[in-house]
Amino acid sequence: MHFVRNAWYVAGWAKEFDHELRHAKILGEDLVMFRASNGEVAVLHDRCPHKHLPLSKGRLIGDQIECGYHGSVFGADGKCTRVPGQPRVPPSACVRAFPVHERHDIVWVWMGDPEKVDPDDVFDLDQLGDPEWDAHQGDALYIESNYLNVAENLIDPAHVTFVHPTTLGSDAHSEVPVRCDASADPIYTWRWIRNAPPNPFFQNYADFKGNVDRWQYLYLYLPSTAVIDFGSADAKPGSTEDRRDEGIRLFAVHLLTPVSERETIDRWMHIRNTHVGDEAVARVVDEMFRTAFAEDKIVLEAIQLEEEKPGAEPTLQLAIDQGSIAYRARIKELAEAELARH
Ligand SMILES: [Fe+2]
Repeated sequence: MHFVRNAWYVAGWAKEFDHELRHAKILGEDLVMFRASNGEVAVLHDRCPHKHLPLSKGRLIGDQIECGYHGSVFGADGKCTRVPGQPRVPPSACVRAFPVHERHDIVWVWMGDPEKVDPDDVFDLDQLGDPEWDAHQGDALYIESNYLNVAENLIDPAHVTFVHPTTLGSDAHSEVPVRCDASADPIYTWRWIRNAPPNPFFQNYADFKGNVDRWQYLYLYLPSTAVIDFGSADAKPGSTEDRRDEGIRLFAVHLLTPVSERETIDRWMHIRNTHVGDEAVARVVDEMFRTAFAEDKIVLEAIQLEEEKPGAEPTLQLAIDQGSIAYRARIKELAEAELARH
């Protein structure tokens, strides 16, 4: 299984954290998390070193966790500060604490080598925090499928016509070739549909004079963040990518957290350059994406079950799979390089 450990993964939206213990599993590891009184989120391995009761079954006392079995107490840094019944705390009594970084109302956790941690590596986007753009957090969608399946779906415009006929897709898409650049991080695929009628969503929020040029750019940042840039602008011969800000532009951002080998949480949000500050529009976008991503979930969970059947055969590779083939190869390289260093 290819988990890339030296990476920041989303532990949750900032609003998910409070001064109470919360369990989560990331990369197959059980974690206990809470927001301390100084505002910072602490993330620890969810297991008391004494008898291995998950610490999330204990309780918070101030900013420390008291184990629910024999009352040992651990600070946010993982160090044991008290063992009831003995005056001395053994130096080996500690729990692994994971580095945390919070930015743009998202809490990230570093699951890898503590020596390599760098908050500058946390995923960011120029439009996040820009007042000209409206960023809105959607859901934490639980998908019973390996994160590689989920990520490759997000760099794959070719499924849109068939999986999302009522929301994101249209027949005009299906025969337009998909292009791909897999030479760097992010890997991205894109296509332009030129001089075509706007799709209903974009028509509702803009005053297009007639046909539009539509684009979809799908960026996949390693290991598991996808940004899908959709938009439309009045049709004009020779439109290029630098024209995208002239039109209506909507990003769907998917922050994938691998839970286990067969489960993923897709925290999705959207960012738009139209109707900034209009909550009603944000809710319309939420509903459109919620419908579409539920359609992906059905496909991805069915694929996972097929993959787990004994004797599953390798999948067929088609021209539309360039992005996903490159992505899987890069993840494999990164994960293997980490293993080789150990
Ligand atoms: Fe989809």
